[in-house]
Amino acid sequence: MKDKIVVFDSGLGGLNIFNALRTKYPNENYIYIADELNLPYGTKSIEFLKKRIKEIIEYFKDSKAIVIACNTASSIYGLLEERYDNVYEIIRLTSIHAANISKNKKIGVIATNLTIELGKYQEYLTNLNTTVYPLKYSELVDIIESKNVLTKEEYSTKLNESLKEKFTYFKNTNIDTLICGCTHFGYVIDYYKKYLGNINYITSDEVVVNYLNEKLDLNKVVNPTTTIYTTGDPMEFKEKMKEYNCLGVVNKIII
Ligand code: DGL
Repeated sequence: MKDKIVVFDSGLGGLNIFNALRTKYPNENYIYIADELNLPYGTKSIEFLKKRIKEIIEYFKDSKAIVIACNTASSIYGLLEERYDNVYEIIRLTSIHAANISKNKKIGVIATNLTIELGKYQEYLTNLNTTVYPLKYSELVDIIESKNVLTKEEYSTKLNESLKEKFTYFKNTNIDTLICGCTHFGYVIDYYKKYLGNINYITSDEVVVNYLNEKLDLNKVVNPTTTIYTTGDPMEFKEKMKEYNCLGVVNKIII
């Protein structure tokens, strides 16, 4: 386990970070774990998630790194009493990046209901002297996770109808930057543009990739391996992954 980088999310979202890491540092051993059995995280209770996030971290605690590629779980990690030297959360880094990019310092954040309720983005961004417009948007996780059971038309209609309604919140805010504060949300940035135009769209992928390079000695494994796990149904997760052009064998894991 000591030579493995573990990337963890409730479902598909963390694959964005996983793929960015694998592209930049191909000579590493990776594990991806999707806790699909407990998806979605964003509408679960804090108590449930504290227990669950701790279980997963404990299971992989001897690894080289555990990247919490999930904003909801990152928010929860901040509430645990335990600290782990090899665990990396993504909210602080993403907030700093967004505050640097934004010119007018007006920043929108779309995230799961729980991420917005726990308020970590609001806290970091306010401390970075920006004005924050937070929007609870757990519905979007459900739409993104259901692409494999919808036709192309159904999927894009559902997405557009939902965005049209939800993004009215940003009308007159004059935001020049939108944080995709849920790792799932990076998949559909092209759809956002129709409603918000050509503003900055921020995901956590690049910042995490750069940060890990500062912290770890990377890219030294000669015969690297990658294993993808789900706590749910492996065939189903494989089908879901395919919809976002991620291919690979999926294994079942019980944690
Ligand atoms: N991808 C997760 C995040 O970044 C959330 C999805 C969920 O609600 O499970 O917050």
